[in-house]
Amino acid sequence: MITTQIPSLKSKISQSPYQAYVYSYPHKTAYRPLTPPVNLAQLWSDQDKSALFLYIHIPFCEMRCGFCNLFTTVTHNEDFVTQYVKTLQRQAQRVKSALGKSSFARFAIGGGTPTQLPIQHLETIFNIAETMGANLNIPISVEVSPETATQDKLKLLRERGADRISIGVQSFIESEVLATQRRQTTPQVEAALGRIKEAGFPTLNIDLIYGLPGQTVETWLQSIRAALRFQPEEIYLYPLYVRPLTGLGRTDKEWDDIRLACYRAGRQLLLSKGYSQVSMRMFQRWENNPASPVYCCQADGMVGLGCGARSYTDTLHYSNDYAVGVKEIKGILQAYIQNSDEAFDFANYGFKLDGNEQRRRYILLSLLSDEGLNFASYQQRFNSSVYIDFPELRELKQLNLGMEDGEILRLTEAGVELSDVIGAWLFSERVLELMYGYELK
Ligand SMILES: C[S@@+](CC[C@H](N)C(=O)[O-])C[C@H]1O[C@@H](n2cnc3c(N)ncnc32)[C@H](O)[C@@H]1O
Ligand code: SF4
Repeated sequence: MITTQIPSLKSKISQSPYQAYVYSYPHKTAYRPLTPPVNLAQLWSDQDKSALFLYIHIPFCEMRCGFCNLFTTVTHNEDFVTQYVKTLQRQAQRVKSALGKSSFARFAIGGGTPTQLPIQHLETIFNIAETMGANLNIPISVEVSPETATQDKLKLLRERGADRISIGVQSFIESEVLATQRRQTTPQVEAALGRIKEAGFPTLNIDLIYGLPGQTVETWLQSIRAALRFQPEEIYLYPLYVRPLTGLGRTDKEWDDIRLACYRAGRQLLLSKGYSQVSMRMFQRWENNPASPVYCCQADGMVGLGCGARSYTDTLHYSNDYAVGVKEIKGILQAYIQNSDEAFDFANYGFKLDGNEQRRRYILLSLLSDEGLNFASYQQRFNSSVYIDFPELRELKQLNLGMEDGEILRLTEAGVELSDVIGAWLFSERVLELMYGYELK
């Protein structure tokens, strides 16, 4: 039996529904220096490399939005950006030879804002993917912002095989975005969406945020309706996590209540328009795009290139050092471009997943998506049974947050809206200690 003690779910759900955005497990704040560093060729030698995910991270943005805690920076130093792309090329060569024979099934360029790169550098990013051995006929996703989604860059992305564009809109109500220090006008957003539609990408994803300063359920629904006019195949509805200074008029409880009301109303609207819910945040419309894979950067077998990228094997997750502060990010970026070629042969910073953590990760990621947790697949993969390893999962059913459908445990509607509590409840003690330790720095 797995022994780590987890507090009761009942006590967790009496607190805020917004406890931790569980987009990965474990979170980067649980990563630590690896001593000694891990040799990548050895690490990857026993991994299945037949269907890897290639992720290239571009840590540049036109602005720093007040709500964003991603690893990214605003820079107007062209030379630095060129150096960054050259470093990516050097890293790609070393990582490719460490991987040896390998094949990629998906590729994503994320950020930051990849389209902040000048067009010639954007082109180089695709060449780097080819250096890695990726055939550009695989599904390729690129993140863009409205201002940087220019016609020439979109044309290049489409020509080089990108089939999914994910655009950060956040809100169609100008005052709501401006209150988060994001410079963006609604005509700009609409023009960008028009250009994306024109360029003919099979999948358009629009990111929207609820819980913004000044936002009400009514203005939130207005934003979703405005997004629907562009018939996106996917919509992500993100609850705001980093509290903006301008939102201080509300108590924590009021902020929770408004986020929950927005979530419920938004979900209802999207379901009524034919979208299906893939997870608490993700909604997808199938009719035009039945073969589209769910975009997910969580699978094992991820090879990340770039300063803020993570890489995943079964037993080790690794990346560069992580920071959110402006000065710290710049320092880490400087160190990245000064790396010797040989330095890219090693992972220096990360988290080793023992059997317990591998099982936890599997359970967490399956439960938080509409796929659910398949008991037989778990048994096959870990040679053990879900309820023997994690008896506390029974509490999900007792609280009507989970239900069993044959061989599958799925969250109920009430469970899905508490995804961020259920996810945090499943973190191991070790991961929690590391995360809290990181925040104290
Ligand atoms: C890499 S950005 C998307 C592309 C581009 N950088 C942009 O902002 O337009 C990733 C998305 O994460 C979401 N996001 C980032 N920080 C968030 C936060 N603190 N709370 C909620 N959503 C957040 C935003 O919706 C954002 O569009
Ligand atoms: S939301 Fe997008 S544009 Fe804004 S700082 Fe974050 S990554 Fe950059």
